[in-house]
Amino acid sequence: MLTFENHIVLNIPKAIYFLLICCLVFALSACENKSQHSDAIDEKVESLLGRMSLEDKIGQLQLMNSPGNDQLEELEERIRKGRIGGVLNEVRPEVIQKMQLIAVEESELGIPLLFGRDVIHGFKTVLPINIGMAATFNPGLIRKGALVSAKEASSVGINWNFAPMIDIARDPRWGRMAESFGEDPLLVTRMGLAMMRGFHGNDPDKEYLMAACAKHFAGYGAAEGGRDYNSASIPEVELWNVYFPPFKALKDAGVHTFMTGFNELNGVPASGNAFLLRNILKERWDFKGFVVSDWASITEMQTHGFVANEREAARKSMQAGLDMEMATSTYCNHLKEMVESCEISEDLIDDAVRRILRIKLQLDLFEYPYANPEEVINNPPDSHFNIARKIAEQSFVLLKNKNQTLPLNKNIKKLAVIGPMADDRYEQLGTWIFDGDTNLSITPLLALKNMLGRDRINYAKALETMRSLDKEGFPGALQAAVNSEAIIVFAGEESIITGEAHSRAYLDLPGAQNDLVKELSKTGKPLILVVMTARPLTIGEIQQYADAVIYAWHPGTMAGPALADVLFGVKSPSGKLPVTFPKAPGQIPVYYAHKNTGRPPSDESFTHIQDIPVRSFQTSIGNTSHYLDVGFKPLYPFGFGLSYTSFEYSNLILEKNRLNNDDSLKVSIDLANTGIYMGTEVVQIYIRDMVASITRPVKELKDFKRISIDPGKKVSVHFTLPVSELGFFDAKGNYKVEPGKFRVWIGGSSDSGLSEDFLLENE
Ligand code: BGC
Repeated sequence: MLTFENHIVLNIPKAIYFLLICCLVFALSACENKSQHSDAIDEKVESLLGRMSLEDKIGQLQLMNSPGNDQLEELEERIRKGRIGGVLNEVRPEVIQKMQLIAVEESELGIPLLFGRDVIHGFKTVLPINIGMAATFNPGLIRKGALVSAKEASSVGINWNFAPMIDIARDPRWGRMAESFGEDPLLVTRMGLAMMRGFHGNDPDKEYLMAACAKHFAGYGAAEGGRDYNSASIPEVELWNVYFPPFKALKDAGVHTFMTGFNELNGVPASGNAFLLRNILKERWDFKGFVVSDWASITEMQTHGFVANEREAARKSMQAGLDMEMATSTYCNHLKEMVESCEISEDLIDDAVRRILRIKLQLDLFEYPYANPEEVINNPPDSHFNIARKIAEQSFVLLKNKNQTLPLNKNIKKLAVIGPMADDRYEQLGTWIFDGDTNLSITPLLALKNMLGRDRINYAKALETMRSLDKEGFPGALQAAVNSEAIIVFAGEESIITGEAHSRAYLDLPGAQNDLVKELSKTGKPLILVVMTARPLTIGEIQQYADAVIYAWHPGTMAGPALADVLFGVKSPSGKLPVTFPKAPGQIPVYYAHKNTGRPPSDESFTHIQDIPVRSFQTSIGNTSHYLDVGFKPLYPFGFGLSYTSFEYSNLILEKNRLNNDDSLKVSIDLANTGIYMGTEVVQIYIRDMVASITRPVKELKDFKRISIDPGKKVSVHFTLPVSELGFFDAKGNYKVEPGKFRVWIGGSSDSGLSEDFLLENE
């Protein structure tokens, strides 16, 4: 009997065979061209290397921060002598141009410079903060956003972006969760890949607009207690299954560079970690690009207590496989003497230089070293703002909507717009916006005035900043609320409270913002709380005072129009949480893909602290893995997010319940829009390997799709998961797919959905 696939093959018309053969020939010749291109690059690298003195080589390993104007000449002189491989943090087009000119025209070897910058979530046009971008579950759109960043940044001459950050972040106390794509390896991988591809660009004349940098390798997000820069202790099984996958995926997709982290991993600082850089990245994964240190992370190995002095730091980092040094100069100061005294081999240095030259050649810098001064994007076009706005819209997560408080009716006579985030062009942009232009920001207040007319808005800032404790502005805010039909409070964290080094132990809304919400709720008017920040906050108590809650992250330049559209139902919210929201900081770490344990908690087994009879016998109360006070569930699970409409999942169908290794799990579900609004649902598929030689998480996200449906309509959503993707790594990094029982869920969050079991058979 013919299989479905056979049937198709046998009926293919000749023209299609011809087309297939043409495609094959084209693909083969593309492969051949690629390999010829790469041979040509290797030849050029060798010819350059052959002409380089040891000092020239070491010069390529130096990435210098661009100094103030008074020291520019000194840096230029070093460039002229060929003692610099790249410069970071210079964005003035004319200065970049001049430095590149010196490197290319005046240095003996004419090797162009790399110009690096942290373009983390936008250049001039600021996109939502990365954790918000992750909430879109829309990699295609994020790629477009990254392309906007690449066009703007490369127009001034930036050719290397220190992004994306693909650290897994499971601790909201850690400020740099802001820059991350959250807790899940699959989501982080998809978003990381999308950003990298966007940074590379789609310019027909130039293969790459800029190089990307996968950072921070590895484990930086697992800082102890969420304290930035702290130690990470990660068992190897977890490294392989949770922390490595995004890095491996970007490596496979051709990322040019990796950055180390400030952290130590299992006792060895990442910048001197031969296991990470040499054994895994360069040998096992065969990474051909180069590794850059983080800022001064080589010299900081002394403070870690890993090396005694800078000389030893340089040796350990070089031996470990770190190719380029950022900001400090231990390589320049010590490597030459160490090679001459045979303490380290020149081969190591040659390897590092080859990698750097190869990337410079791949970026075509020898042919096109300069940006075109005529094309500097000082005023981004509307298309850039439109993409920023679309990403922001899709990033908003509706957490609560009592009695359909939202969307608001455009006929509203008076709307109270209250809070320190309502009209702050700077804070809405979020952390890491070195080049973001606050003049371009449109605030919620401005957008709402544009939408409704200024007469219909009663605005009160109420608090000077998000951290203010002074309640002098409260009476004015109450007055504005009393005179209005509905209240929107724009609260959150200032951008500086999030990001690098800005960890927190308490995760509530800072300052007197909670009190403000409580006071306003006394008016009895419908109250909408919009939270603008870059990490989950413990809003469990305060949200009870609000009728609706939108988690808006730091939405960037287009915060205002995007929020106005969602608040008034021009768009229905479709974001989903990329990270689990804890009820209290004491619950951290809390993430959906945890292990089951031998004593998993359940509603039946859970005992609240107040329900324990005094002097109960020790073993008599539900002994399961929970907290007596906050229980075992998070405030909101990963993947959660409401819409103005409602969705119903039904009819989960597995094509087969017994699979073998060559099969794919083919599964479908019906999704109906049962509400009255058009809506978009992020349909998520999770699996669990029920019994394995190393226990597996209770759920793992395997795929997701954004599905838009009109009210009253129903669609079938299909997923295909190759069995080869259902496996896991052991502690040695060997990947295996073990036979046995699996469970699959499809739903709208990690804590919902229909499920079925299937069996993976031996053969
Ligand atoms: C950060 C890196 C960043 C570098 C350069 C460091 O403080 O950890 O992620 O790329 O600075 O700005």
